[in-house]
Amino acid sequence: MCGIFAYLGPKNTASEMVIEGLKRLEYRGYDSWGIASKTEQGIEIHKEVGKIGEIKPTDLNLSSSNLAIGHSRWATHGGVNKRNAHPHFSENKEIVLVHNGIFENYLEIKNHLKKIGHNFVSETDTEVIAHLIEEYSKVHTFEESVHLATKEIEGRYAIVVISKEENKIIAARKGSPLIIGVGNDPNEYYIASDIPAFLPYTKKVIYLDDNQMVTLTNEELKFIDFEKEQEIEKRIIEIDWDIESAEKGAFPHFMIKEIMEQKDTLSRAINQEQDDIKKVAKEIEKAERIYLVGCGTAGKVCMVGEYLFAKIPKIKVNFAFGSELQNFKEFITKKTLLICVSQSGETADTLEAIEIAKEKGAKVVSIVNVESSTMARASDIVLPIKAGPEKAVASTKATTSQLAILTMLAHACNGGIQNGKQLLINTASQINDMLNPRYEEYIHNLAEEIKDVESMYIIGRGSNYPIALEAAIKLQEVSYIHAEGFAAGELKHGPIALISENTPVITLAPNDELRKEIISNATEIKARGGYIIGISPTNHEVFDFWIRVPDVGHSSPIVNIIPIQILAYQLAVLRKNNPDMPRNLAKSVTVK
Ligand code: M6R
Repeated sequence: MCGIFAYLGPKNTASEMVIEGLKRLEYRGYDSWGIASKTEQGIEIHKEVGKIGEIKPTDLNLSSSNLAIGHSRWATHGGVNKRNAHPHFSENKEIVLVHNGIFENYLEIKNHLKKIGHNFVSETDTEVIAHLIEEYSKVHTFEESVHLATKEIEGRYAIVVISKEENKIIAARKGSPLIIGVGNDPNEYYIASDIPAFLPYTKKVIYLDDNQMVTLTNEELKFIDFEKEQEIEKRIIEIDWDIESAEKGAFPHFMIKEIMEQKDTLSRAINQEQDDIKKVAKEIEKAERIYLVGCGTAGKVCMVGEYLFAKIPKIKVNFAFGSELQNFKEFITKKTLLICVSQSGETADTLEAIEIAKEKGAKVVSIVNVESSTMARASDIVLPIKAGPEKAVASTKATTSQLAILTMLAHACNGGIQNGKQLLINTASQINDMLNPRYEEYIHNLAEEIKDVESMYIIGRGSNYPIALEAAIKLQEVSYIHAEGFAAGELKHGPIALISENTPVITLAPNDELRKEIISNATEIKARGGYIIGISPTNHEVFDFWIRVPDVGHSSPIVNIIPIQILAYQLAVLRKNNPDMPRNLAKSVTVK
């Protein structure tokens, strides 16, 4: 969602570095941005609405500085305009702050501050924090003031604050990520909401955990736990990410790069620690009730999991969207197992579900891409999907890796982890063959044919019903074409009324026991004028357009979603949309 980047060090190009850092966070999605640099004249702020895009720092005439903070904003409190963009000043213009997340009790504090003479220029919750810190600073040091403010703010947040009077950065985190990059020069530090922002400069990182605050100066790096009120030691960790995996390389967009990476990512997901999979399988066996929890695409992966567990080990698992789990909290006990699926590990709704489960003493397993994420840290067992950085807003490679892990887990619960592994190795090798330029070209022809349609539908049965839902998400978010997924059998109960001449209907038809039924649903649609796009290992006369996928048994959800990812990407490009940064969306959704 919003992005944070800050620099403090010996270089006097802090503003330039912050702008470049914010560009590397663009993939998270934002609608305005701003930076504040500490210069000899005081604090200079520059804010803009829209994308940083091709802006060169030199275009902005920024003074030289060795301390700067920046932010890319995805609007929550207040409209998209310069006034609401961060950084925000305090009343006396001495304190400047950027903020990710939500400050839940901001209105109460804002009203109090108004009564004692504060005037606010924006509609944001963020500005209130700057003013609150200023109030404390009337009788406390800068550091103490930030500390006291953190104790008053309710909600999930990350803040980075500077003061006109001091050459230091103070940052604090509660529920929203902040990572410190330790630079190669002495006393050189970066702070960002996501590692790729400072990856070109350093791979040495320190993760700030919840309720922790750091003070960075030219002399020291000091950490405190602001809940326990004590100083703490933190470790520097060397990460093994390479810059190439976080860059587009020769690809025009991250989305297509990440789709193509599925040639490798699936194999990486399969090469899990077998002991960890077995450990989770044991927890599943022991649990009285199991919930698979995720949001958006990750939620659809969980729904597939529900089918896989019913089919393979014949275990009942319940699916819930992160935001919906609260409605079932009466059923969560210490004998419940929550399996959370997430790419970012920072999705607020899923994190809230974890909080509910933890309060009830339930065990939490997470299947997550970002291993350093809040979700991974809050879980009892983590199954990392190892897909590497996923930067396009539309999830692709993370999805298939999550599906692979759930497939392996379902087999492990059936005593056959090796069977699962073998099936997935075969699937990975077939995907490797499938993802070639000819295949892309073939789907491009279809995209050309349907690029101007108003609506399209996707139908599936069994474990491919959630894939129909996921296909709709993919098509909606990047092509902006109205798309809906249905359980094929449900069509005749209402949605078939939507079919008219040439309405495209993607039909997911693996070679399984449900094939006959879905083909008969496709035939009913065709009889009403629908244009049937079959995704299947075998052609059928009902298909007007056939996209071949390998025949991989229980892995059919994995192979069926890939051509739809390619189709969605190509439709986006043909319709002149930016597939990496769709309108109104953000990569990790850190608000409820
Ligand atoms: O990071 P997460 O996997 O927890 O994110 C969940 C959803 O926000 C995410 O899958 C979203 O639906 C994607 N944009 C879909 O492509």
